[in-house]
Amino acid sequence: MSAKIKILVVDDELILRESLAGWMQRAGHLVETAQGGRQALAMLSGSEYDLVFLDIRMPDLNGLEALKTIKTAYPHILVVMITAYASVETAIEAMRSGADDFLMKPFQAEQLELMIEKLLNQKKLVEENLSLRSQLNGGSRYHDLIGSSACMRRLFSFIDQVAQVDSPILLQGETGSGKELVAKAIHARSNRRYGPFVAINCGAFTDTLLESELFGHEAGSFTGANRTRIGRLEMAKGGTLFLDEVGEITLKMQVDLLRVLQEKIFHRVGGNRDINADFRLISATHQDLFQKVSREQFRKDFYFRLKVIEIEVPPLRERKEDLPDLADHFLQKFRRETNKPARGIKEDAMLLLQSYDWPGNVRELENTIERAVVLSKSAYLKKEDFAFLFRVPEEKEGAVTMREVEKNHIEHILKLCRWNISKAASVLEMNRVTLHHKIKKFELKPEE
Ligand SMILES: Nc1ncnc2c1ncn2[C@@H]1O[C@H](COP(=O)(O)OP(=O)(O)OP(=O)(O)O)[C@@H](O)[C@H]1O
Ligand SMILES: [Mg+2]
Repeated sequence: MSAKIKILVVDDELILRESLAGWMQRAGHLVETAQGGRQALAMLSGSEYDLVFLDIRMPDLNGLEALKTIKTAYPHILVVMITAYASVETAIEAMRSGADDFLMKPFQAEQLELMIEKLLNQKKLVEENLSLRSQLNGGSRYHDLIGSSACMRRLFSFIDQVAQVDSPILLQGETGSGKELVAKAIHARSNRRYGPFVAINCGAFTDTLLESELFGHEAGSFTGANRTRIGRLEMAKGGTLFLDEVGEITLKMQVDLLRVLQEKIFHRVGGNRDINADFRLISATHQDLFQKVSREQFRKDFYFRLKVIEIEVPPLRERKEDLPDLADHFLQKFRRETNKPARGIKEDAMLLLQSYDWPGNVRELENTIERAVVLSKSAYLKKEDFAFLFRVPEEKEGAVTMREVEKNHIEHILKLCRWNISKAASVLEMNRVTLHHKIKKFELKPEE
């Protein structure tokens, strides 16, 4: 037996309890003992066990009753009933209540060893089958997207329908709902799947930078443009261009992009050679673009061009059936990454997760599971491991905003660098222009 397992021996007879426990300890297992059913249940609720040896006849709580309770609350724990004589009736009843095996008194050490080994192998097989099933289950997985709820199945079959044509697609959905994964799945399903998938977050650039990111530029087209640069529109040749946060694009850039979509050609900044726009456009936003259009913050013509095909990625709270699969998937992921013992999520904890609203959607779930895996000490994540989700934030006065954190940090570094802007900028890993902007924005001044 290589893996260390934890066993609970429950018997009211001291001698039997101690001899069983002693033998198992010598075989390298972790063993604890309880004198009766009630004590056993109390111990089970506070710790993780793999295997329980349970006497059928105990004064305080009938072994069969205890068995039923254990199998309901902790279905993953293996239970072996200990019985003094071969009674067919009790055997049948115990098996019906979910016992995994029987141990008849008196017994031999070798018999015990074989039994433990057999049970653990069985358990391993079952667990492997379960995880294989969740990996292979075609219904719950579509490329990297997990989901078997009706709305996700509809989404997958809609992607199948539209992936092969080249019309622009607009993905709308809340933050963290999986828009980028959907975009990648569309690309993977399209005829362009052997071409590149090029993504750009439009919210991360100023207008001029975005222009040169998208269109590229010719050498010498502006100060600092030392050599010719290929833009993302060009990089996406033969593949898919993913415009993330498309709601952030300024009205001027919208005009430029609309022209590209209509004429199918573009120029690098500072150049006049026609370049073919050979990409399928997928854009995404968490904003209400229709409303932006009605407020004249977004061009109507551009909006209609983007949303030739519209896809709504549903928020997690509308497909809570998918939550267990998603949670298990992230659990496996972080278990591999962290080497933590987390093996599963207890049923009541899963119910608690399903009762939460998930404003940050799948990304929030992912972060939540990561945190629980890292902090939990037990093999099965419990309700308590997720209590933080429901904690009401402290009073507003006590809370610090991101803006304040940034301001204080910049101020601190500036002081340390005696307001030497170049030095502070390099410590902060931002360029000097950005630092000047921040100084202005936060109204920072050197002390007298
Ligand atoms: N259905 C899903 N199955 C598996 N993982 C998912 C699913 N949906 C989202 N994720 C994961 O959740 C995280 C957020 O997804 P993604 O980045 O696609 O969201 P988004 O809608 O683009 O969010 P944002 O609007 O904030 O950019 C990623 O780590 C992604 O892998
Ligand atoms: Mg995204």
